[in-house]
Amino acid sequence: MTQIPTPRPEDKFSFGLWTVGWQGRDPFGEATREPMDPVHALEKLAELGAYGVNFHDDDLIPFGSDDASRDAIIERFKKGLADTGLVVTTSTTNLFTHPVFKDGGFTSNLRDVRRFAIRKVMRNIDLAAELGAEIYVAWGGREGSEYGASKDVSAALDRYKEAFDLLGQYVVDQGYDLKFAIEPKPNEPRGDILLPTIGHALAFIETLERPELVGVNPEIGHEEMAGVNAAHGYAQALWQGKLFHIDLNGQHGPRYDQDLRFGAGNVRGAFWVVDTLLAGGYDGTVHFDYKPARTEGEAGVWASAEACMTNYLILREKAQAFRADPEVQEALAAAALPELAQPTLGDGETWQQLKDWDLPDVEALAVRDAGFERLDQLALEHLYGVRG
Ligand code: GCO
Ligand code: MN
Ligand code: MN
Repeated sequence: MTQIPTPRPEDKFSFGLWTVGWQGRDPFGEATREPMDPVHALEKLAELGAYGVNFHDDDLIPFGSDDASRDAIIERFKKGLADTGLVVTTSTTNLFTHPVFKDGGFTSNLRDVRRFAIRKVMRNIDLAAELGAEIYVAWGGREGSEYGASKDVSAALDRYKEAFDLLGQYVVDQGYDLKFAIEPKPNEPRGDILLPTIGHALAFIETLERPELVGVNPEIGHEEMAGVNAAHGYAQALWQGKLFHIDLNGQHGPRYDQDLRFGAGNVRGAFWVVDTLLAGGYDGTVHFDYKPARTEGEAGVWASAEACMTNYLILREKAQAFRADPEVQEALAAAALPELAQPTLGDGETWQQLKDWDLPDVEALAVRDAGFERLDQLALEHLYGVRG
């Protein structure tokens, strides 16, 4: 029997208060668990070996709290952080629960709602900066529509851009060391959400006044909901220097947002995400955004939180063993991966020289065995635990 790895703060694992604190309310049923005291969450997460925590403003401070109770809650939370040594890694704003946001926050058709949403975010950015968060996550779950004519998408994108430009100006003017990470999702709670995939978000970011301040926070499950390859999306975000944060969890393909613990769901997909993060040198926090099943009591909540971390460590070991395996290295060479790393043109070669190049035996290239089946089987054998 191999050893189950133990999570440690240096692994930089973090959890949202809304994950372990999820009460199990869904569209068909009431809550199955009691509300969780945020300080209790800090204590348990620290005990399990986590490094950090994050939250939406309303996870910590109930919507509509007066200033005195807000201050008291924040002071108590800060003491909890100091006592446990946990770090606030990111922060975010709830622009989806209150009915005022039913048609969105930054892109609501109603101008006063948009103004209120931006105000709510600015207030929470102040708190995020005070608590030392480095990334501000922006998940626009209500930015979207159910029907065609009910949203002018082009105008909504203008307003979306306006909000990020304004917030970028705000952090610069305040001197905050804070960057934004947009979290894409194709649908749920809206029928269709704007910026539905990593690719849409990356393209949008380039239109902003300060694109350098904005990256992405991709969630595995959301990419799987869109039917695309999550690891490829993470790889492109890394390639563009835009992978500012990650939401890891589990999902079984295109269906409702399952938010399973990391490692459950598409295991093979999870393996390639971890491999991609290692290959791309991702060094941010490893954040889990999942929901403990509503069948569970508190024991199941902590069992699942711990499992997210151990599953990451297991997959990390497997991905490292896969890459270090001499047979894999041979198979990679046989599959011509080193050749893909070579530029298509020679040093200083011009298009004219390419035009004049003596063609190779095209028919021979066409029938060349690619070696991909063998390579992938080696990966699966590592994953299944019979190698490495
Ligand atoms: C989801 C989302 C959310 C966001 C979170 C941060 O499951 O639909 O992941 O959980 O990540 O609200 O803003
Ligand atoms: Mn999700
Ligand atoms: Mn998420």
